[in-house]
Amino acid sequence: MKIKSAEFIISNTDVAKCPKESIPEYAFIGRSNVGKSSLINMLVDRKSLAKTSGKPGKTQLINHFKINDNWFLVDLPGYGYAQISKTKRKTFQKFITDYFFNRKQLVCTFLLVDIRHEPQKIDLEFMRFLGENGIPFCIVFTKSDKLNSSKINKYLQVYQQKVLESGWESIPQSFVTSATAKNGRDELLTFIEEVNKEVGSIQ
Ligand code: GTP
Ligand code: MG
Repeated sequence: MKIKSAEFIISNTDVAKCPKESIPEYAFIGRSNVGKSSLINMLVDRKSLAKTSGKPGKTQLINHFKINDNWFLVDLPGYGYAQISKTKRKTFQKFITDYFFNRKQLVCTFLLVDIRHEPQKIDLEFMRFLGENGIPFCIVFTKSDKLNSSKINKYLQVYQQKVLESGWESIPQSFVTSATAKNGRDELLTFIEEVNKEVGSIQ
């Protein structure tokens, strides 16, 4: 799919204030610093549409970006960021879970994990949350430029094995990406294009 336009629409902490349009929406979630905002920029081929940072905790709001005038990418705050106060973490958790519970336009969630790390408890818990609430998701491995191809395969196998051991009957669809090397871009955009066609306009 060709990206013809990508525009920032709105940031907020309240799912009720998210855009009202019934067009398909894809959300990016995962640990802080895993590369959610960078992946969005890579997909739309814009350097800083979504704000990125070397320090975790950069994205703090629900950010809607409208793509090709007919679907949304949504950049969310990361979870598992230790350097914030308990109160703030609770607020984060509340508006993020409210978003997932209430956002009817959400057709698929991309759960990002760093390809170099074994599954972390918090990621497996989030997968369980999505599964238990019937929220469709894919796993997106990030930062694959940090490994050579044989290591990528090895890490993938370990990851998938651990996901199965944690109780999943099959492995969710997954993608291997690198925002810096632009790996996985065509695959993700083709996937989105297919889902867009399947769902059409959401009632
Ligand atoms: P929060 O908003 O804090 O939750 O983080 P985030 O998940 O949005 O991460 P962000 O995109 O801001 O990237 C975090 C850091 O990882 C930045 O220093 C990026 O340059 C780096 N990064 C992101 N993607 C990649 C990648 O594919 N390869 C490499 N080598 N670095 C990456
Ligand atoms: Mg971010």
